[in-house]
Amino acid sequence: MPTQQLTLRQPDDWHVHLRDGAMLQAVAGATARQFARAIVMPNLSPPITTVETALQYRQRIREALPDGSRFEPLLTAYLTDAIDPAEIERGFRQGAWVACKLYPAHATTNSAAGVTSIEAITPVITTLERIGMPLLIHGEVTSADIDIFDREAVFIERHLAPLLARHPGLKVVLEHITTSDAADFVRSGPATLAATITPHHLHINRNAMFAGGLRPDFYCLPVAKRELHRIALRGAATSGNPKFFLGTDSAPHARSAKEAACGCAGIFNAPFAIESYAAVFDRENALDKLEAFASKFGPRFYGLPLNAGTITLERQPLEVPDRLHLNDAAGTAVELVPFHAGETLPWRLA
Ligand code: NCD
Ligand code: ZN
Repeated sequence: MPTQQLTLRQPDDWHVHLRDGAMLQAVAGATARQFARAIVMPNLSPPITTVETALQYRQRIREALPDGSRFEPLLTAYLTDAIDPAEIERGFRQGAWVACKLYPAHATTNSAAGVTSIEAITPVITTLERIGMPLLIHGEVTSADIDIFDREAVFIERHLAPLLARHPGLKVVLEHITTSDAADFVRSGPATLAATITPHHLHINRNAMFAGGLRPDFYCLPVAKRELHRIALRGAATSGNPKFFLGTDSAPHARSAKEAACGCAGIFNAPFAIESYAAVFDRENALDKLEAFASKFGPRFYGLPLNAGTITLERQPLEVPDRLHLNDAAGTAVELVPFHAGETLPWRLA
């Protein structure tokens, strides 16, 4: 008989968008329900670029959590061309943020203030290397002449490989990898290089966006790629290699903003994220590898303690609703389409 129950050390989410205001209040509970900690992305409008705004944002996240929640948000600094390395170091030393996020300018949602030239921010990178602060990278080139499906592979070749060569001590997480090229590069790279993998890139390939019509709920950045890449990512995630760990990239946008003439990129997978990963590991006969991927490799890379608590998953059908109506603090519902809408998942949190 297959395993019916699975108890894991409590996992963390090493890449999530919690947003701000009403959306933050609506979605924070979904992440806190399963994860003990999360690396919270700084691409707010305006982005988190100062210690002061990071501390204020952390307070707003805490206020948005359900009563009694012990969830700990780990904040990140948003790199710009003009960011001051001293401010980054000051925030790191006092625990206001734990990593820096590099968005190439115009790569994705709220990245207009991002970095236009990685070489030009060498003083910041040198600071990160010296103080041991991880650099989290959205790894896509942005030039219009590079096909959208090639942007990750080209980024690795043009920018990531030279960056690692220039800064051998720099800790780097290549975020939300989507290609076999990225998986291979990380696997064969130095021990200072790791990657996060999302549930959606393990479940869907690019055909999902066009199945029976245009499907905005499967549109995210980096965009899902061919099936061979999805298979490579499943191999990486379930391999037991500590360079690959959990990061959902849950990126909520209201249904009205997704189903629009120019729909936003982002998949809201937070409500059933651990269940979504469990379905993959089960299918790959790798449930014994789930705990390390979800709960051990991330904290080890960041140099943080493992969580003491546990969660239990049980093999019970979980029907994912077509839509969620999540309330903000004023009781007004935000309508969102969750990842796996209308599907039944094989595992659920007990
Ligand atoms: C993210 C968002 O909406 O903030 N969107 C996405 O498709 N993943 C930004 C990002 O991580 O690229
Ligand atoms: Zn993201």
